[in-house]
Amino acid sequence: MDTSATFWLPPPSSTVAGETDGLFYAIFYITTFFFLLIVGLATYFTIKYRRTEANANEPMEVVHSSHLLEAAWILIPLGIVMVLFVLGFKGYLRQSIVPAEAAQVKVTGQKWFWSFDYPEGASTVNELVAPVGRPIKLLMSSKDVIHSFYVPAFRIKKDVLPNRYGIGWFEATNTGVYDLFCAEYCGSKHSQMIGKVRILSEQDYKTWLEDASDPGKGLTPVEFGAKLFQMKACNTCHTIDGTASNGPSMKGVFGHEAALANGSKVLVDENYIRESILVPAAKVVAGYQPIMPTFQGILKDKEIDALVAYIQSLGAK
Ligand code: CUA
Repeated sequence: MDTSATFWLPPPSSTVAGETDGLFYAIFYITTFFFLLIVGLATYFTIKYRRTEANANEPMEVVHSSHLLEAAWILIPLGIVMVLFVLGFKGYLRQSIVPAEAAQVKVTGQKWFWSFDYPEGASTVNELVAPVGRPIKLLMSSKDVIHSFYVPAFRIKKDVLPNRYGIGWFEATNTGVYDLFCAEYCGSKHSQMIGKVRILSEQDYKTWLEDASDPGKGLTPVEFGAKLFQMKACNTCHTIDGTASNGPSMKGVFGHEAALANGSKVLVDENYIRESILVPAAKVVAGYQPIMPTFQGILKDKEIDALVAYIQSLGAK
């Protein structure tokens, strides 16, 4: 299989990518050929048969149609599109039917991030980790609006809908890190709903899974909280150095009062942090929009405890 990037797409890195690219280029070159042929002939005939002073008074020629020519321009394109249809339909079936031996990952889309749950109990945010050379079934759903799971290197794009499961699969052919996009306009931060797919060797995947299934192993609550702050992508909106971002910085907030958007004040303590993680819109800090998603069902109690401990540790000014 060709492994180079093209003008259109990154290097093909899944088992279906070669087939998809083959069909894409076939359609591309066939349509380019006919575009040039038709536009070229139209231009040529326009010039050749244009009205000039010499032929202005000649009577119009009566042209009788050729059945052979008509049959040709019906049957040749029909043959071409039928071949493309059959190849396309076969590819569609191949991409729709999940191999029986596939391992399953639950994919959840919500404004504006992706989360992944693995059968062994691990979960990740904005990064899907998978082994190379093994089919992975994606069981996908959305918590709010329609998103679309798009990994250009794998040539897969599947809508992720609320209230029903979508199903997709891929089998990566190379280890590496690949871009993941949301390909369905889903609100103001749609363009930031991006992530990575990290493909590991079988051995590295096993090691990763062991660690990811118990991410707090051997860590103090504060260390675990610091790790989660990155892992769960809290750091995309909250800094720890005092600069404001999409959300307030976490530096030095613990144990202090915060002014709220509704004009009242709240003491930033364990309960306020917990509430803000689970019901972010309940008490929004003044000067910020209520854009934070809920982490209800995403974070376990132990993880919330660790995040509270970590934010508390940033409280010392
Ligand atoms: Cu989610 Cu666009």
